[in-house]
Amino acid sequence: MKNGISVFIAAFIALGASWCGFVLAPALQLGTAKQTAVLNSGDTYPVQRTGDATLGLQVYRANGCAACHTEQIQQTGIAFEVVLTGAGKNPDAVSNLISTLKLTGLTKEEADSANDKITAVGGKVETHLIPTGADISRGWGVRRSVAADYLYDSPVQLGSLRAGPDLADAGTRLNNASWHLLHLYAPQSVVKNSAMPPFRFLFETRKIGDAPSPDALNLPSEFAPPAGYEVVPKPEAKQLVAYLLSLHADVPLYEAPYTPVQISTNAPAK
Ligand code: HEC
Repeated sequence: MKNGISVFIAAFIALGASWCGFVLAPALQLGTAKQTAVLNSGDTYPVQRTGDATLGLQVYRANGCAACHTEQIQQTGIAFEVVLTGAGKNPDAVSNLISTLKLTGLTKEEADSANDKITAVGGKVETHLIPTGADISRGWGVRRSVAADYLYDSPVQLGSLRAGPDLADAGTRLNNASWHLLHLYAPQSVVKNSAMPPFRFLFETRKIGDAPSPDALNLPSEFAPPAGYEVVPKPEAKQLVAYLLSLHADVPLYEAPYTPVQISTNAPAK
C-alpha cells in the first residue's frame, strides 16, 4: 500500500479532531465546574442530593422517564417589571401616575424611565428582572437551565421529547411526596385523564398484617386494592420520589439572573 502513511495521517487527524471537539473541549469548558454562588446571597448552589435522591436518579434512568420528560427549561429573553414598594408623601399623585404607566413586560430603558417618573413624584419603586419564554409561562421554571443545575447528575437526564411536562424544577411546584407516590402508582388517580403510564411494579400489593402500614397509599376507591390488602411503595419508589422532590432550579445565578419574588403586585404599598 503506497499511500499507507497518508491514510494513517488522514485517519489520525479526523479522529483526533473529533476527540478534541467532543471530549477535550467540553472537558476544558466544564470539567472543573464547581458549586457557584447564588446571586445576592451567601449560599452556594447546587447542594449535593441526599443518598435516597441520588439512588432515585438511577431509578428515573432505569425506568426511561427521560423518554417522555425533559429536564431543561428554555428561556427566550428577559423583561423588566417596575414594582411600587412605597407611595411616599403624595400617594394620590403616585397612584394617578402609575395608572397611566405600563409597568410590566418592559425593556430596561422603559423600566428606567417609569422608575424616574415615579420617583419624581415621591414613590418608591423596585425594578424586577423577569425571564420570559414559553417554558416559563407554562410554569415549568423561573429561569433557564444552566450547566450548574446538573453538577451532581450522573448521568444527566436532559431528555429530548416532551410527552409530559419538563421536570427540571418539578420539586418546587410538586413538593408533596404522597402526591408523587399516588401519581406513579396510578397517574389518573391524581391527574384526570393523565396519559402517563402507571409504574405499579415500584409498589407492592400485600395483605394487611396486624395493622396497616403507615406507608400504605391512600388511593381513591376505583384504584384501591381489594379489602384486606394495601399498596406500599418499594424502596425504589421512595428513592424516585426523593429524586423528584430534589429537582429544583429556583435560585438566581450569575449566568441566569432574575429577581426572586413570590407575589408581584403593583398595588401601592402602605
Ligand atoms: C409515555 C410517556 C411518559 C413516561 C414514560 C413517563 N411520564 Fe411522567 N408524565 C407523562 C405525561 C403525559 C404527564 C402529564 C399528565 C400527568 O401529570 O399525569 C406526566 C406527568 C408527570 C409528572 C407531573 C409533572 C407536572 O408538572 O405536573 C411527573 C412528576 C412525572 N410525570 C414523573 C415521571 C416519572 C418519575 C417517570 C418515570 C418513572 C415518568 N414520569 C414517565 C408522560 C410520561
